[in-house]
Amino acid sequence: MRLAFFGDVHGNLEALNAVLEDIQRRGVDEIFCLGDLVGYGPDPEAVVQLIREKNIKTIMGNYDDAVGYSKESCGCSYSPGRETEVGDISLNWSIERTSEETKEFLRSLPKRMSFEVEGVKFLLVHGSPFNELLEYVKPDTPSERLKEIASKVEESVIVNGHTHLPMARWVLGKLILNPGSAGRPKDGDPRASYMIVDVKSGVISFETIRVVYDVKTTVEKIAKKGLPIELATVLALGQTFDMGPGKVTFTLK
Ligand SMILES: [Fe+2]
Repeated sequence: MRLAFFGDVHGNLEALNAVLEDIQRRGVDEIFCLGDLVGYGPDPEAVVQLIREKNIKTIMGNYDDAVGYSKESCGCSYSPGRETEVGDISLNWSIERTSEETKEFLRSLPKRMSFEVEGVKFLLVHGSPFNELLEYVKPDTPSERLKEIASKVEESVIVNGHTHLPMARWVLGKLILNPGSAGRPKDGDPRASYMIVDVKSGVISFETIRVVYDVKTTVEKIAKKGLPIELATVLALGQTFDMGPGKVTFTLK
């Protein structure tokens, strides 16, 4: 069985199309989405429509929750600053530009998904098994915390999103995977990121795949639709940013 995992599309239709085309070209048996279909990007409604059209199994991310319930904040624990401000502006923008039907779909998404493939049990959560929507499980998460996460669940493969950083880590004989972000990578590589996992007679192999997409079109849409221009910068560079008074700092990972 070959499984494709992607997440954190964040309203980026061009990146989603490129990832889906690449998946189709390589051929997989099942496709799963780890949430955060909306927020930040210029095409929240179209992204949700495409995911629904393709019947892709999807769990809820914090932005799906925030847009679905028209919340004032994404719940991300960014420190106060321009990045938080930009996130909130894009959240309100996305709430105003998604239909009631789309919001209902976002509200209907499950916070976790469990399944078994050839004897291997998988758990999908956007954040972590302790806090499905909000906890960041990152490459620099202390190993003690990773052990707590691995022991918390009965599944042997945990796939999460939320951090926008690809990751693969064996912890206590379990595998913690993150396919990175399809529509808003933050690891310094602007290409869309996703993962293919192969399970053959209980043996797992995995590959992180990067796909070039038409970022110019997405950036132009951000400008044309009046979203903060910093959102375009993040896509063009594949970097997060923090802008203090009079200076721009790019966080190089
Ligand atoms: Fe996200």
